[in-house]
Amino acid sequence: MNEQILSCRNVTMRFGGVTALNNVSLDFPANQVVGVIGPNGSGKSTLFNVLSAERRPTKGEITWAGQRIDGLPPYRVASLGIVRTYQSASVFPELTVRESMEFAHWTARKRGGRSIAEVAEITGLTKFTNESCRSLPYGHQKILGVALGLLTKPALLLLDEPAAGLNQAEVSRFLLLIKDIRATHEIGIGIIDHDMNLIMPACDRIAVLNFGNLIAIGTPTEIRSNQSVLDIYLTGDMRSDADH
Ligand SMILES: Nc1ncnc2c1ncn2[C@@H]1O[C@H](COP(=O)(O)OP(=O)(O)OP(=O)(O)O)[C@@H](O)[C@H]1O
Ligand SMILES: [Mg+2]
Repeated sequence: MNEQILSCRNVTMRFGGVTALNNVSLDFPANQVVGVIGPNGSGKSTLFNVLSAERRPTKGEITWAGQRIDGLPPYRVASLGIVRTYQSASVFPELTVRESMEFAHWTARKRGGRSIAEVAEITGLTKFTNESCRSLPYGHQKILGVALGLLTKPALLLLDEPAAGLNQAEVSRFLLLIKDIRATHEIGIGIIDHDMNLIMPACDRIAVLNFGNLIAIGTPTEIRSNQSVLDIYLTGDMRSDADH
């Protein structure tokens, strides 16, 4: 049986004259947390866009459990259990938090998984369940996006900057959620973020993009001492943040 791994092989994505991804090969196993970091414009979101089939790569292959999935419509890829969130908060503005969670849970009704109450608790949304999604603070809208993703019982959840807009207490709570998922191997996670206080402790492996090139892949310990990586994070805050 093929292991549940989302893989891209030699993926290049061009937009006119811009090469957003250049010959990138990377694996996202369904039981690991894999971080994707890099400066603004380095191709991180584009990578998730091709992995979730929202964009077809200019070149290269995407496979899930050994089967080609590039070229499939996004809903087919989502139905395989590859679910993503967006850099901007995207929730159902007209619904309450509870209603939107009920909808996400309903889509996974045949697959079991965590209950609404459990996901609300672990994401810190319990006290907001009767609020309308529109009225939530931005950071909570981002977390709600993650909660909705979790409730669909994915095999692999791709999170694009989930911690942007969260305060440090919210980031700490979110880190607990990731650690819990990581410890139970419940699902795999791919996570893009600029916050090293989240990325370093959350991830089993970290991939680093720069100008569309994969310049490093390794454990957090390996990445924080990789000279090419430190060179692109000129302030050196990666080294100090990693020690928290
Ligand atoms: N739809 C598009 N059309 C044209 N160019 C695009 C498109 N999407 C991305 N790009 C370009 O591809 C490059 C990579 O963009 P991408 O959004 O993947 O970067 P990112 O690493 O996610 O950056 P950030 O940290 O700011 O979110 C950038 O130069 C961007 O302008
Ligand atoms: Mg991005």
